[in-house]
Amino acid sequence: MSTTLHSPSSAFQSAARVSGRAAYDQLYRAAETAPESFWAQLARNQLHWFQPFQRVLDWQLPRAQWFPGGLINACYNCVDRHLSSWRRNKAALIWEGENFEQRILTYQELHRKVSKFANVLKSLGYRQGDRAIIYMPMTPEAAIAMLACARLGIIHSVVFAGFSSEALKTRMEDLEANLVITADAGRRRGREIMLKRNVDAALAEYAGVRHCIVYKHLGAGIEMHHQRDLWWDDLMFGMSEDCPAEPLDSEHPLYVLYTSGTTGKPKGVVHTTAGYLLQTHMTMQWVFDLREQDIFWCTADIGWVTGHSYLIYGPLSMGATTLLYEGAPDWPEPDRFWRLIEKYRVNIFYTSPTAIRSFIRQGDAWPQKHDLSSLRLLGSVGEPINPAAWEWYYHIIGGGRCPIVDTWWQTETGAILIAPMPGAVATKPGSATLPLPGIFPAIVDAKGQPVAEGQQGFLVMRQPWPSMFRTLWRDETRFREIYWDKIPGLYFTGDAARRDADGYYWLLGRVDDVINVSGHRLSTMEVESAMVRHAAVAEAAAVGRPHEIKGQGLVVFATLKGGQAASPELVDELRDWVGKEIGGFARPDEIRLVEALPKTRSGKIMRRLLREIVTTRSVSGDTTTLEDYAVLLKLSQQGKEEEELLAHEAQKEKV
Ligand code: WTA
Repeated sequence: MSTTLHSPSSAFQSAARVSGRAAYDQLYRAAETAPESFWAQLARNQLHWFQPFQRVLDWQLPRAQWFPGGLINACYNCVDRHLSSWRRNKAALIWEGENFEQRILTYQELHRKVSKFANVLKSLGYRQGDRAIIYMPMTPEAAIAMLACARLGIIHSVVFAGFSSEALKTRMEDLEANLVITADAGRRRGREIMLKRNVDAALAEYAGVRHCIVYKHLGAGIEMHHQRDLWWDDLMFGMSEDCPAEPLDSEHPLYVLYTSGTTGKPKGVVHTTAGYLLQTHMTMQWVFDLREQDIFWCTADIGWVTGHSYLIYGPLSMGATTLLYEGAPDWPEPDRFWRLIEKYRVNIFYTSPTAIRSFIRQGDAWPQKHDLSSLRLLGSVGEPINPAAWEWYYHIIGGGRCPIVDTWWQTETGAILIAPMPGAVATKPGSATLPLPGIFPAIVDAKGQPVAEGQQGFLVMRQPWPSMFRTLWRDETRFREIYWDKIPGLYFTGDAARRDADGYYWLLGRVDDVINVSGHRLSTMEVESAMVRHAAVAEAAAVGRPHEIKGQGLVVFATLKGGQAASPELVDELRDWVGKEIGGFARPDEIRLVEALPKTRSGKIMRRLLREIVTTRSVSGDTTTLEDYAVLLKLSQQGKEEEELLAHEAQKEKV
């Protein structure tokens, strides 16, 4: 554990919303002493209500209801409430396309577009409780679609545009979606991603959707199905701009976001309105120390929770200017992000350790070509950040001037739970530092007993918080099993952690069969199910191994069905297959075709052994339950041979 302490400069500290350690301690204690009045006061002062709430929290583990009795609207809070001040002419969204196209929407303009689009949805007969899939590139229209749904109480589910048609269909089915909002295509690294075609493929197997609204983004050649498919622009033409936001119950579901679990089936994480909005709003202040004039840039895609909370709901409810970039970080050259920061004078920059590590590899010359002096604060999310990447980020990007907020949270938590308040809490590279006010974590053993200081254990939460997810979509049983029954009485995060003598949290990665590739959660089961859907594959086992850039890389071991011959072509085909079944980001780094997989006597694949093989190339520990030890030896032998072969090849290249 590193002991280097980075304290904020006195200039940063004195200007910060929460200034000095004593201020943090005081806030934390206030929330600890009287959590309900702490949150109630914030909810009253920080959000707009159509009708005040009657109680703060109804908590019957694991069922939480925050601010029952209140009527509220997330879209109203993100858009309408800013129209009564000068902010109406402030930039809400700045969008830049990969080919340097630019659009800027003020709050007033955003309001107009959102209201019109909400009227479009209304005129097609959609209303509160309906479910819309949003499968769009990173364009202002994606934000408009989300906000228009929120305005009417239509539950949205954004599906990351990198997901395949198969993954899209699974989500539509689970959600019983009745509306799809998409675009003809999106752009990434100069290529067109044919979104509408994927929707067509998904809708060929799912009949529950009445309409598919298509935003013409690139003018790509697509087919429109009579009656079902409608052009966004045609629908918007002449539509009224007057569409009042619906007063909705505090607990009305705002969105469902699917995330990988430990089984093949993705989980529909349900977030509701008031509590979610309050905590994304507060963390913009506590963690990002947002100022009125800031340009805030979160590089996450809108299809992940970070995009929901810190591209849209958090920044807009604060009346901030949020930057949306559609495209790759290294397009057309590796300095695209630094160009964007310089061009828009970005003040707060929030990205992932994977991105940081790939910038390091590209070399310091790329950021050094640009004026990054507008930056005041840097953020990191999605995976543990290694101290070396942290130091690089701090010195090369932040010029040694900007605090780094390493933010720990999850799709399920809705908002950041553990992170430094940058003007109050000194940071240590690699640690997410301290819990935010109102967050009560613990590190425990399998029985729920707290572990000693410095010891590794399971990270849990002892008390509910406003932005917590409420359930899994139509799967209350799984909700209880995965999150609440593992260690009774506590919320099980699935992460391992340690706490040091200063009370700082050090996140150590997942303890379940979820691997974190480039900050994207992937379940090993999901990958294995995709593999065995291929006609040649009999069995598969997926494991993670440390990867220099991506944090973790994906390795799949597979056996073939009788009569199938292993070949390099088949390996390539299988990698593409997984990419097609789930999405490009899930494509394995390596597929190893083997004769048999190591199993216990009861037939369970021993992933632990496979993990050891791919990480250390040797195996230790208890193997007495192995059915056939020879299988294992063969596998590790194969690894060694491969390594020797590679070393030999590399040697040849040098010569
Ligand atoms: C990991 C992303 C270490 C963790 C917001 C968690 C982190 C999972 C950090 C959630 C961090 C996220 N340090 N690990 N700062 N942030 N994680 O649902 O394993 O995509 O459980 O949410 O990412 O990923 P998800």
